[in-house]
Amino acid sequence: MPIREMKETDLPRVLEIQQELAFQDWNESQFAAELRASYAFCVVYEADQGTPQVSGYAIFHLLGPDSELLSIAVSRDNQHKGIGKVLLDAGLSRLSPADKDRCFLEVREGNSTARKFYEKNGFTLFNTRKNYYSDGENACLYSLELESRTN
Ligand SMILES: CC(C)(COP(=O)(O)OP(=O)(O)OC[C@H]1O[C@@H](n2cnc3c(N)ncnc32)[C@H](O)[C@@H]1OP(=O)(O)O)[C@@H](O)C(=O)NCCC(=O)NCCS
Repeated sequence: MPIREMKETDLPRVLEIQQELAFQDWNESQFAAELRASYAFCVVYEADQGTPQVSGYAIFHLLGPDSELLSIAVSRDNQHKGIGKVLLDAGLSRLSPADKDRCFLEVREGNSTARKFYEKNGFTLFNTRKNYYSDGENACLYSLELESRTN
């Protein structure tokens, strides 16, 4: 499985993917803080076709019943190959359906690709926060009840 935990040496490539997709503007220190946080689970997808190359990453806060997906991204050339789902499943597999764990996330209302991806993977929209982002865009809040996940 080309999933492994993110390391400090991955950060230049992670920042490159973030910059290419322009969906978020975390700096290197913010990613590094996630790597140090005991509750954070940071993974990369690294395919090895001759030369290993990180093509996606995800950051979760694993907090028992109320976990959170903070960020997920797949480089443009590698999208629509199922890598996003593999990254998502890597985090969700750490949660416990028996304990009725849930995973929350927030996403820009206009990010239809990500919203479709989340909905396809079982997340349900439960609230909208008006003018949540600094540019005035609304945030959509999604949750997934682990025990209700079938795929
Ligand atoms: C959201 C995101 C992470 C999804 O990543 P992805 O790797 O493209 O996700 P998947 O490949 O698992 O699923 C995407 C689509 O590809 C399809 N797909 C999966 N495997 C496939 C394959 N082998 N062949 C063709 N299509 C495939 C899926 O069915 C899904 O279809 P849909 O368009 O009907 O939803 C990606 O679009 C992204 O990085 N977006 C920019 C960053 C962002 O907005 N992140 C979220 C906010 S934090």
